[in-house]
Amino acid sequence: MKSMKYYIGVDLGTSSCKGILCDKDGNILRQKAVDYPVLYPQDGWTEQDPAGWLLAAKEILGVLSAGVEDKIAGLSIGGQMHGLVALDESDDVIRPAILWNDGRTEKETAYLNEIVGKEKLSALTGNIAFAGFTAPKLLWMRGNEPENFARIRKICLPKDYLAYKLTGVFSTDYSDASGTLLLDVANKCWSVEMCEICGVKPEWLPRLYESYEVTGRLLPEYGLPDCIVTAGAGDNAAAAIGTGTVRDGGCNISLGTSGTIFLSQDAFSVDPKNALHSFAHANGKWHLMGCILSAASCRKWWLEDIFGSTDYPTEEAEIAAAADSDVIFLPYLSGERSPHNDVSARGAFIGLAAQTTRGQMSRAVMEGVAFALRDCLEVAVSNGLRPTETNLCGGGAKSRIWRQIIADVLQMPVRILSTEQGPSFGGAMLAMVGAGEYATVKDAADAIIRVSETILPDPGKAARYDEKYRVFHALYPALKNMKSAASE
Ligand code: XUL
Repeated sequence: MKSMKYYIGVDLGTSSCKGILCDKDGNILRQKAVDYPVLYPQDGWTEQDPAGWLLAAKEILGVLSAGVEDKIAGLSIGGQMHGLVALDESDDVIRPAILWNDGRTEKETAYLNEIVGKEKLSALTGNIAFAGFTAPKLLWMRGNEPENFARIRKICLPKDYLAYKLTGVFSTDYSDASGTLLLDVANKCWSVEMCEICGVKPEWLPRLYESYEVTGRLLPEYGLPDCIVTAGAGDNAAAAIGTGTVRDGGCNISLGTSGTIFLSQDAFSVDPKNALHSFAHANGKWHLMGCILSAASCRKWWLEDIFGSTDYPTEEAEIAAAADSDVIFLPYLSGERSPHNDVSARGAFIGLAAQTTRGQMSRAVMEGVAFALRDCLEVAVSNGLRPTETNLCGGGAKSRIWRQIIADVLQMPVRILSTEQGPSFGGAMLAMVGAGEYATVKDAADAIIRVSETILPDPGKAARYDEKYRVFHALYPALKNMKSAASE
């Protein structure tokens, strides 16, 4: 017992920061979450105050480490991707962070994709521009806030800002850096040409590491004398580690504020249509990923904002009792990333009838999110990738009904892990590898990850869901046209 070591994993999320303390066997001994607000300064804009992240992280570290300060051997952070945190020459934050689901960069995204050109972007970075990526945000800042842009001396991603404050080391990892559109993902180095296109000086960018590599230690003021810190990962790569999605062909679905389908790959590859992101993984390899901007956030919006309720169990019971219906929900509450790349896309309920019940509409919300993930899966299938099963994590994965809907709509077995906290658990595993507890991320996953339940798809639902999916798939282009006709 005396020599027992502990590890901390932190997930710097969009609505809260979550931390866990666990031992090398993956037993979670303590956990703590601290909420902070998202700011919506204009329609379609999302921002956050990085000072709130630091306050939350300090509180979490205090709670997790109380009384075991000298037993904590490692810490690693997974975090919301793509956010722009710009620092001036005194390391002060220049303006609030612009988040991953911010839609203000439509013009800059179009400039990158149409004037610079998708082919060139894809050749340089493995990806095209999406509104939430970091590079279009930098172009936006240069065009709209030139005085702020002129003050930039450092560019951080959210979790890297936090790590910089905690360690004094200016670093990032390949998985998170992939979402900047400034990284040459195949060769794992900053793209000098992309920096030139965006007016970014290479010295503003952090040093690159593998997620499990040690970057430094916590500053003495945090009172954890033996705690190394590793570079950490973007939240989806961290979640994939935390669910053991580390082998070639492995699949992880996350139902958080965003929804993602993450396809682990040993070799770098690019989706020819660039609808899927081609990013580095936190195990030293790569992945393809589809990201929908609103997933569990759709259910939260529907129940909490529309009905003013937080009674999830009653909603779950209503959905279970609801008969199948033709109601279809489009989950584009914040525009859509994959596969449409359209910040102006909007949500909709279609197929309502006089006898439609609230339970049917609530079920349609969950099905709509599953159909949007299927849109991403279909792109993967068209590239010859057909995962045979998937892991599932994120807040939405707690719903038994939603788990079954995902299994039925995607017609894949869905694995639920004994530890629910994907990104923070993945962070703790990266810390274990950095501290030498395990030689590789795969070794850590083999030793720690346990499946608690596998939900099998109901083959009897396949034909009906195929039919509904075809309607869903046809609705985005149909409604997009109606919208432009209405605004003419
Ligand atoms: C991934 C993405 C989101 C955020 C959410 O590309 O934008 O999943 O990382 O935290």
